[in-house]
Amino acid sequence: MSITILGIESSCDDTSSSVIRDGVMLSNVIASQAVHEAYGGVVPELASRAHQQNIIPVVSEAIKRAGIDKSQIDAIAFTRGPGLMGSLLVGTSFAKGFSAALGIPMIEVNHLQAHVLAHFIKESEDDNHAPSFPFLCLLVSGGNSQIIKVNAYNDMEVIGQTIDDAAGEAFDKCAKVMGLGYPGGPIVNRLANEGNPKAFTFSKPHIPGYNYSFSGLKTSFLYTLRDELQKDPDFIEKNKKDLCASLQATVIDILMHKLRMAAKNLNIKEVAVAGGVSANSGLRDAFLDHAKRYGWKVHIPKFSFTTDNAAMVAITGYYKYMDKEFCPMDAAPFSRVQI
Ligand code: KG4
Repeated sequence: MSITILGIESSCDDTSSSVIRDGVMLSNVIASQAVHEAYGGVVPELASRAHQQNIIPVVSEAIKRAGIDKSQIDAIAFTRGPGLMGSLLVGTSFAKGFSAALGIPMIEVNHLQAHVLAHFIKESEDDNHAPSFPFLCLLVSGGNSQIIKVNAYNDMEVIGQTIDDAAGEAFDKCAKVMGLGYPGGPIVNRLANEGNPKAFTFSKPHIPGYNYSFSGLKTSFLYTLRDELQKDPDFIEKNKKDLCASLQATVIDILMHKLRMAAKNLNIKEVAVAGGVSANSGLRDAFLDHAKRYGWKVHIPKFSFTTDNAAMVAITGYYKYMDKEFCPMDAAPFSRVQI
């Protein structure tokens, strides 16, 4: 018997819906919200309003592109958290209404777990690129930087995480002070490709275990700008490529150092990366380099699965459906949850 899951993602500023049948993606529709660009960051109230406008057309389009009828859906998987409360409420409320109307169960999905399970989305029947258990996953996004030991679909341990800023925040905040625009990550990445990663030295944290910290790097970046701007007001304009290249190299060094430690100590060579920052070309290259150097089998997601998408929610829903893990109609969203 085949299982068809409709996924809904609305945790931040992308409204997305996807249909997955037996682990194979039939559609994945994403409506991004341009409304935030003028503000240099996501404005929660504007995000929820845009979700409300987008949700019905996005879900209809996902069902249409999948070539199915809504009566063929077996369950609705939705992101319950973490994320912006108003945004999550739109997806959660829609999931409740639709599941009641269709008389099918709902499945709650943890957004972070979904980023990890994005590696199991199949784009065709014979797509067999998934990692084997146990594997380590570096989850790097605008709000999280974690090292996760993934023992099974439903068994994940966070063995390290940031104690302050996330890797994506380090990119976004440093880009903001340089006046580069939002989100800063992709802009820094583009400029870094033309700069010298050794031009500047920024501080790296010395904290025990597998935890991360990016606030020291951010401070040392700011101090460099402050000192240099006193000498030359055009310092940023003249040096932005080198600044971006050095910033990016430092973030990647910090991330890979702890990941290497974890892989060595736990003797795991299967290593994946997930989340928005996994779109970074320098980080992707570092993974490929580690594969060569340390014999890792690395798993790097397709660009379309790095940022928020409902296919990762639907695939998580699929595995939870197999375990009969349904949630009650009164499930409320959570803005903060652990894996
Ligand atoms: O997972 P994600 O889409 O959602 C949130 O956590 O909100 O991650 C977004 C983060 C942002 O900080 C963005 O700047 C960063 O991912 N990002 C990048 C790149 N593309 C997106 N960071 C570095 N290089 C990139 N190419």
